[in-house]
Amino acid sequence: MDLKKVERVYSNYAGVYDHIFGRIFHESRESAVRNLKVVPGERILEVGVGTGLALPLYPSHVRVVGIDISGGMLKEAQERVARHGLTHIELYRMDAGQMEFSDDSFDTVMAAYVVTAVPDYRKVVTEMIRVCRPGGRIIMLNHFSNGNKLIAAVEKVISPLCKHIGFRTDLSLDTVLDGTSLLVARKEKVNPFRFWHLVECVNRKNGSAVHAH
Ligand SMILES: C[S@@+](CC[C@H](N)C(=O)[O-])C[C@H]1O[C@@H](n2cnc3c(N)ncnc32)[C@H](O)[C@@H]1O
Repeated sequence: MDLKKVERVYSNYAGVYDHIFGRIFHESRESAVRNLKVVPGERILEVGVGTGLALPLYPSHVRVVGIDISGGMLKEAQERVARHGLTHIELYRMDAGQMEFSDDSFDTVMAAYVVTAVPDYRKVVTEMIRVCRPGGRIIMLNHFSNGNKLIAAVEKVISPLCKHIGFRTDLSLDTVLDGTSLLVARKEKVNPFRFWHLVECVNRKNGSAVHAH
């Protein structure tokens, strides 16, 4: 799965994305944002913002920046931002694996259904850590494979298919976190089918404190 293909697949899906993924995943998307307990002025980055389904859920006293590689998805997000008059939100076309932001630019970095939808999750997670301040939060809403052999076998079969539409199913949370400065602070099973996880991590880079939020 290369970046150009990801761009093409998502841009082709952009017009129908909300109908396919909007409703099924919205309950967990909504609880992820509502449970953020943001503080006024908080700087939030949404990586792989897609059509911006979560954007209207952020309170207007935070500053939200959304990025995505797909021009088609971003166009939908832009229209949503205009429709809802969300003046606290900025959107940019950018590769999450090579972001144009300086180090420590954000307090919270959110990736909803993204880590398993990118060609190189390591690059993306490394960049999320870089642009998040020490002690900040990195939140991933995702399906992670769980080591169950039967499920793993099914996932291996499904995986190539999912790859085609932009997902992989064989990635575990341990693999994603391995060798990073991230410490899991909260992990919840969420719908659909309680098969997905909401994982909140503290960014402990540079030896930062655990309870800094
Ligand atoms: C499954 S969608 C999730 C969209 C949104 N977060 C949501 O909750 O509906 C994955 C998104 O990640 C984007 N994406 C994939 N690879 C990317 C990359 N390297 N940089 C930025 N965005 C990327 C895709 O274009 C797509 O919009």
